[in-house]
Amino acid sequence: MTRKLIVTSALPYANGPIHIGHLVEYLQTDIWVRFQKAMGHECYYFCADDTHGTPVMIRAKSEGISPEELIERVHAEHFRDFTNFEIAFDNYYSTHSEENRQFSEMIYTRAAQVGSIFQKEIEQAYDEQEKMWLPDRYIKGTCPRCKAPDQYGDSCDGCGAHYQTTELLDAVSTVSGNPPVLKKSTHYFFRLSVYQTKLKSLFAKGYVQESVQNKLYEWFETGLKDWDISRDGPYFGFKIPGEKDKYFYVWLDAPIGYMASCKNWCDKNGRDFEQMWNSGDYEICHFIGKDIMYFHALFWPALLFSANMRTPDKLFVHGFLTVNGQKMSKSKGTFIMASTYLKHLDPQYLRYYYASKLAGDVGDIDLSIEDFVNRVNSDLVGKLANLASRSGPMLTKKLAGMLGTLDAKGKALVGELVTAKAEIIEAYECLNYAAAIRRIAALADVCNKYVEEQQPWSTIKTDAEGTRTTLTAVLNAVKILGIYLKPVLPEFAAKIEQFLAVDALTFADVDTVLENRKINDYIRLIERIEKEKVEAMIEESKQETSQESIQPEPENMLDEPLAEECTIDDFMKVDLRVAKVLHASAVEGADKLLALELDLGNLKKNVFAGIAKAYKPEDLVGRLVVCVANLKPRKMKFGLSEGMVCASGPGGAEVFLLGLDSGAKPGQRIH
Ligand code: MSP
Ligand code: ZN
Repeated sequence: MTRKLIVTSALPYANGPIHIGHLVEYLQTDIWVRFQKAMGHECYYFCADDTHGTPVMIRAKSEGISPEELIERVHAEHFRDFTNFEIAFDNYYSTHSEENRQFSEMIYTRAAQVGSIFQKEIEQAYDEQEKMWLPDRYIKGTCPRCKAPDQYGDSCDGCGAHYQTTELLDAVSTVSGNPPVLKKSTHYFFRLSVYQTKLKSLFAKGYVQESVQNKLYEWFETGLKDWDISRDGPYFGFKIPGEKDKYFYVWLDAPIGYMASCKNWCDKNGRDFEQMWNSGDYEICHFIGKDIMYFHALFWPALLFSANMRTPDKLFVHGFLTVNGQKMSKSKGTFIMASTYLKHLDPQYLRYYYASKLAGDVGDIDLSIEDFVNRVNSDLVGKLANLASRSGPMLTKKLAGMLGTLDAKGKALVGELVTAKAEIIEAYECLNYAAAIRRIAALADVCNKYVEEQQPWSTIKTDAEGTRTTLTAVLNAVKILGIYLKPVLPEFAAKIEQFLAVDALTFADVDTVLENRKINDYIRLIERIEKEKVEAMIEESKQETSQESIQPEPENMLDEPLAEECTIDDFMKVDLRVAKVLHASAVEGADKLLALELDLGNLKKNVFAGIAKAYKPEDLVGRLVVCVANLKPRKMKFGLSEGMVCASGPGGAEVFLLGLDSGAKPGQRIH
């Protein structure tokens, strides 16, 4: 039976580049889509850039361009990175599109018609200088509970307290640096709570994995709060119908972007959107990370209920990426952008590695660099590619490239591979790629053992036809393994198809045998990973000064994993000293860096700091700052950096140096 499926990944924010954390999701989805297609199902993969919201607006401003220009550039960058990782969307669109505006207005209007929208006046922080409303994450101040300085407007990193922005002490806007004022404004709210029963029945139908379900029921226990879906201008987004300066909150139109991408594809391909999206003919499956569960498990289906539209069938939630057991980190060079990875390494390595780790649950997945290198070299290259390289060239060079027939032993070998088909299909279907890869690697072991036993390299000298029979079995095995790996490694599989001289393989071809036919010259399937290249990639990631890339989207960091625990002793190793800025200058070729010369009492240090978008060099001279004085000097493209100045903030223009009053003495230690 052919299935019909519409599959989506979350829409990446247009305010930053794609990194290897994102790729967990896009690769997980792409593998599933390719698997469905290789099963002969009708499956479409839709995605888009998520373009609206405050961060895009602020970033465009700091770059001196319009939001439209920014999102156009980022769209091209995102699409380029995805394509290079062989992530094959059927359509990669944008939420800043006419289709999306129309759907957003329609859904909003229908929700309003059934009484699910109401207005309420609320009081909110406002930046009078910048003339803009401030989301919580754009306000910093002192924690009202533990008095830790420099905390965000909604919660304290020091003691974990959650509070109202109004409770924050000495609050300042991170945009202008001025204290925010409180201003009243009328907002639109969506009545989430009235959809509780409908949502529960959706979950009962198996909308989410079981582990996720428990989390959702916790949310029901605490009660569903009505949802603020409007933002006052200036805001980059869609205007609310009938309003002059109010916009839909980015999270209202973002998921609607899934539909817009589908509609845009339908129009380009002469297909009927209603039939595809709303008739129920197609299963609709969303892939997302655990940080955005609330939006996809509650708001999104509730909105669709209110508009009387069909709700999706599946929400697949995955965990977060850690590298070497820790959160991705700039300073460790493990915050790796897709484009940086591609400069050094073959994308197939990462596809294979993630597949070998993804099991379909919400657990975090770890990229251990050492394990990555070992597994690719020993399994992918050593077992799988090796099988082809020890059989293909021999047949073409010594036996005129002609396959023979299978003997009893060959049939037994191929039979064993065919038998695994159902299990591998099942593993892919339920997103347990790790199980599929384990099974495939074990089959490759069986095949390699067969080659060892048959010793074609020695039989070729005396028994050409016997050797042909052996190689025929091995190459049939290579074909089957190529099919099993095809969702994960499309290029690898394409090379197998090419040298075996067969058309695009699907899972149906597992059961056919290649006999008495000619094959083409062998093509190398994949190279070993060189450790030096991995190191170069990490080194380059350390040098990258693009602060934007680590900027979390301020409005949805619900569930970011904590970094590895550090003891007070670890912390005390950091020697913080008062330092006076003697000299500050721009760095040619690095528009985000300033070169600082610091006076630490009896010691001078040169430091490169990624603060050029936030500070003018001339404003820094004479200032007292906090310097990590015992940081190991680091060679950067522009020279040696001998320390670090302490600053915080989301990045770009919003970086704030820790300061000290003029009574402090350069060189003095700070605890
Ligand atoms: N724009 C929203 C999604 C809107 S969907 C209607 C968003 N964008 S994002 O760029 O921050 O993230 C896109 C997807 O990548 C999310 O599903 C997110 O969970 C996932 N990941 C982002 N960083 C990740 C890791 N470090 N690890 C694993 N997945 C991560 O959220
Ligand atoms: Zn606190």
